[in-house]
Amino acid sequence: MKGVVLAGGYGTRFHPVTRVVNKHMLDVFDEPMVYYPIRSLAQAGVTEVILVTITESVEQFRNLLGDGAELGVNIQYASQQGAGGIAEALLQAAPMAAGDDVMVVLGDNIFQDDLTSYVQSFHDQGKGAKILLKRVSLDDALRFGVAEVRDGRIIGIEEKPAKPKSELIVTGCYMYDDRVFDLIANLSPSERGELEVTDLNNLYVEEGTMSYDILRGWWTDAGTPASKLKASILVALEKGVTFHR
Ligand code: DAU
Repeated sequence: MKGVVLAGGYGTRFHPVTRVVNKHMLDVFDEPMVYYPIRSLAQAGVTEVILVTITESVEQFRNLLGDGAELGVNIQYASQQGAGGIAEALLQAAPMAAGDDVMVVLGDNIFQDDLTSYVQSFHDQGKGAKILLKRVSLDDALRFGVAEVRDGRIIGIEEKPAKPKSELIVTGCYMYDDRVFDLIANLSPSERGELEVTDLNNLYVEEGTMSYDILRGWWTDAGTPASKLKASILVALEKGVTFHR
């Protein structure tokens, strides 16, 4: 299985700083944001990693991460021109990952859970895909992909719905079998002009081969100033920092 970290996009929610530095290099507590998804892969035993970022940022990432040895992985780099969506970013990893299963982690997602057992259950399932869900409040669900679950199966996923059908949101960790790149190649851009990961996931849902697990520990994205602050606080608490008033 290959790991893929998606660290593209232009980080516009963090302008002006992201005009000169890639969003995934910003700090979450005491380390660059991108370290966390890479560590999650390494901890799950997925050590062959492809990092996808915008063409303009590849050099910055090479300077920061090199071959990945310091984080216990081996990193290859791929670039995405523009920000045509998460599924389009993943497609850039095809030349290095074709023929393998992939475990994709968004570069701004931070997981407390050790993901090893989820990877194991994906391997046991043999075919299809697996996503990791997190229960959040309905107000918060609006910002994410939201899964509708019935009788223990996902029956549909909606991207940023105005009226979420559940409190189970789709986190940025996706496991796919080796058909994923062919499936992406047949997706059409959404109204906002992106190849959507939610459309890709719904193909597996329709096929009946999408499984899920619900995260036990805390999870957050760090893709907005508020959620990045939350991520920093959660990581600091995890590392035993106490805040004095
Ligand atoms: O964090 C989980 C959520 O991530 C999911 O619940 C949503 O279903 C999923 O669409 C995504 O939503 P976001 O609005 O957070 O996606 P965003 O555009 O912020 O992109 C998240 C990461 O994906 C970003 O840090 C880098 C990567 N990315 C994104 C785009 C659009 C790329 O590498 N290339 C891209 O073109």
